[in-house]
Amino acid sequence: MPERTSSELLSDLAGWQRTHHCSQLNSADIDRRVCLMGWVQYRRDHGGLIFIDLRDRQGLTQVVFSPEINAQAHAEAHVLRTEYVLAVHGLVRMRPEGMHNPSLPTGEIEVVVQDWKLLNTSRTPPFLLEDRVDVSENLRLKYRYLDLRRSQLSANMILRHKAAQSVRSYLNSLDFLEVETPVLTRSTPEGARDFLVPSRLNQGEFFALPQSPQLFKQLLMMGGLDRYYQIVRCFRDEDLRADRQPEFTQIDMEMSFVDEEQVMDIAEGMMSALFADTLGHALDHPFPRMSYDQAIRDYGLDRPDIRFDLRLQDVTQVVRDSQFRLFAQAELVKALRVPGGDQLTRKEIDDLTEFVKIYGAQGLAWIKIKDGEWQSPIAKFLSPEEQSGLQEALGLIPGDIVFFQAGAPGMVNAALGHLRLRLGERFGLIPSNAFSPVWITDFPLMEWNAEDKRWEACHHPFTSPREEDIHLLSSHPEQARARSYDLVINGSEVGGGSIRIHRHEVQMAMLQALGIKAQEAEAKFGFLLEALTYGAPPHGGIAFGLDRLIMLLGDTSSIRDVIAFPKTQKGTCLLTSAPAPVSNAQLQELGLRLRK
Ligand code: AMO
Repeated sequence: MPERTSSELLSDLAGWQRTHHCSQLNSADIDRRVCLMGWVQYRRDHGGLIFIDLRDRQGLTQVVFSPEINAQAHAEAHVLRTEYVLAVHGLVRMRPEGMHNPSLPTGEIEVVVQDWKLLNTSRTPPFLLEDRVDVSENLRLKYRYLDLRRSQLSANMILRHKAAQSVRSYLNSLDFLEVETPVLTRSTPEGARDFLVPSRLNQGEFFALPQSPQLFKQLLMMGGLDRYYQIVRCFRDEDLRADRQPEFTQIDMEMSFVDEEQVMDIAEGMMSALFADTLGHALDHPFPRMSYDQAIRDYGLDRPDIRFDLRLQDVTQVVRDSQFRLFAQAELVKALRVPGGDQLTRKEIDDLTEFVKIYGAQGLAWIKIKDGEWQSPIAKFLSPEEQSGLQEALGLIPGDIVFFQAGAPGMVNAALGHLRLRLGERFGLIPSNAFSPVWITDFPLMEWNAEDKRWEACHHPFTSPREEDIHLLSSHPEQARARSYDLVINGSEVGGGSIRIHRHEVQMAMLQALGIKAQEAEAKFGFLLEALTYGAPPHGGIAFGLDRLIMLLGDTSSIRDVIAFPKTQKGTCLLTSAPAPVSNAQLQELGLRLRK
């Protein structure tokens, strides 16, 4: 009989049913008759046999077409190419001696084909669907459905699913209710730019997509629902970074009749269960805590990576009277001492100097301690007294390098804080497989937005000040401390929340301190302000960035690797080509006209 072509071979399932997935069979299944379905990962022909690595979401199984078992099935298997889809019926047998593959769960066995069906053909994929892909990310995003076939990405999706299930089961066991909140809503107060949706029925008016369900979850507490959670999509039109997407997912929760301790306790239990359910080992808790002030003082950032112990040191006083004007006149001078850092080359130091400029630094001063000698472009500006002052304050020893930053505190801390992370990597100081959670507490309630010249809430305007600081709202709002907390793991801010204001007059005082006039407050948040007058219970909560958690659990550095259909750095979807222009008719219906 002449061999059939692939289009002649195409078949439907014809009642065949899968018995196993492609990572399931092992030596306990020898002689079992099985049916597997999946894609051709690799095809090899040798010794008259055709070997296919058959792939599905779970993994690979080697299937063998042998002319001795079924001559026609073997002959027709010559049509098979990468990514063709097939179903095989066959018998499980041990692989011959020496052919075992210990890196595969199915590596001891193979399935020898008795019969098979071609379910579909495939064009040659635009890139190899292997663990290590060496193509531009844009190509992978355009063909995301192919990229998702790679085990690395599907493993991330499986991890994400497990994480969501773990969170649900933990919170369900504590009587939390999963409640959905609107996606078409009003502007919410997380401080980013809103995505807007024009209303057809109410022309000239817009919905905003929620930056978080913050106000709704508070209203649920006012509705008496007591404990709420939601794994919820949030939308923020902000500049994207490696750990930011314009639409991302929060594990959002809120509780009534609680204080900080209870929220943090429940959050720790949830995180610990999450690590146990996904990685197999719980996180020790209670987690350590650190005040915001200490985080900035020692690490320069409010999301310190405490897996390694380099700390910044304040040397402002040591160089206060220096001849070196840059130091003497600076509001803050801080140093970062790196033991063993004298091996850094000039080129590396130049690169670091460029790096800190991202954070507003003009340059980077440094001193190397070599055999008791100071090698440094700035040593000549420092008197012997200053040199010994620094020597003593920083505990310098041969082999050290010290970096300095002088100027406004925001810049000094950001530049040295990020430099610390760079050096931690450069010198291998960051242990792999370690998870170091830390709560950051005692945030200020407000911070000065120098660009817009106004106070803004550090967390959001519904965060409660400490009871003893409420009176400061009208006199010294900048001194008031917030009842908020962030959870940081390995230097990534994975969650943040607070105890909320539940009394109307305190909320009004807070809005006033933020320079929001009564009329504006009424227009923006009138519904919430009114709800506060009808017996709002004390309440608080927290939201975790699910995507960031999966990045940590899955050890990936790009948020796009943990989202099935992510956006590019430019906020576009290369798969669907969104955003896209719309027709004039659509615009007209919405009462909109584009400016030329
Ligand atoms: P916050 O704005 O701190 O708090 O957000 C909570 C957590 O969400 C994650 N996150 C993001 N992840 C990916 N891409 C983004 N663009 C992005 N923005 C934030 C972070 C962050 O810690 N309503 C409050 C929570 C509350 O007070 O309960 C809120 O949204 O991991």
